[in-house]
Amino acid sequence: MVKKGIILAGGTGSRMSPLTKAVNKQLLPIHDKPLIFYPLSILMLAKIKNILIIVNKGELNQYKKILPDGKNLGINITYEEQEKPNGLPEAFIIGKKFIKKDNVALILGDNFFYGQSLTSLLERSSRLKKGAKVILHKVNRPYLYGIAKLHKDKKIESIIEKPKKFVSDKAITGLYFFDNKVIKYSEKLKKSNRGEFEITDLLKAYKKNNKLNYEELGRGAVWLDAGSIEDFYNTSSFVSTIEKRQGIKIACLEEIAFNYNWISKTNIKESIKFYGNCEYSTYLKNFI
Ligand code: TTP
Repeated sequence: MVKKGIILAGGTGSRMSPLTKAVNKQLLPIHDKPLIFYPLSILMLAKIKNILIIVNKGELNQYKKILPDGKNLGINITYEEQEKPNGLPEAFIIGKKFIKKDNVALILGDNFFYGQSLTSLLERSSRLKKGAKVILHKVNRPYLYGIAKLHKDKKIESIIEKPKKFVSDKAITGLYFFDNKVIKYSEKLKKSNRGEFEITDLLKAYKKNNKLNYEELGRGAVWLDAGSIEDFYNTSSFVSTIEKRQGIKIACLEEIAFNYNWISKTNIKESIKFYGNCEYSTYLKNFI
């Protein structure tokens, strides 16, 4: 089982400068809530209650203002700082004490997932005992992503980072499930030519040992990476469209926690007080 999760919420956000000069990308608004709510909601939907958020050095206080410790969501949130963006696998070095002997999920702080069969996929994935699991999704421009070439026997044949020639259109999304070997494998990685530890190298280590599996997000699901200005606003308008049309909220953390019986109505009333008079609070009031 995977009962621990890490959100990587650091990064330079260079593609979104000057927006990200003073405020970290994951604290910027996607429609009505900070971006970080969305990946956090994904871990919560996977029933992961023990969460480490990794932030840039010096940015801890801003995060703690909005997500202090998770108590009011019935979860446990702790923080670690990353000196500089050395690459995704550094999450498992920084998070070594947090992970201890357990399995762990990793989600990138700027990744957005939504769709019909998502919750069952998450619940299935969090049952992982051994090996690693990646979540794949079909994309139109595979040359922009880490891509998995699939084998007939439902295995991953190879992983190619931003392939120049077409090999497959299955992108590896920013949500991963790992067994405890992830720490050992990450410690052995060497930096790539661009000076970062690479997630593809980590996945290749699992692949070499025949322990790399995958799940595919169906065509009814959405995966967006809110990394560029355009994608950021596309994600925001997607959320706004769905929320307005259906009168539901995407990534309402208290709603998820309440539906899983992690919190009571009293907790939600406290959250309403904390958020103040806003649309998010009105939604919570109507919910209870
Ligand atoms: P990236 O998209 O690789 O980087 P970035 O967000 O800094 O943006 P840019 O390319 O515009 O400079 O990172 C994906 C996510 O992972 C993002 O949410 C930031 C986070 N991240 C870290 O927290 N630490 C890291 O070392 C890296 C590489 C990324």
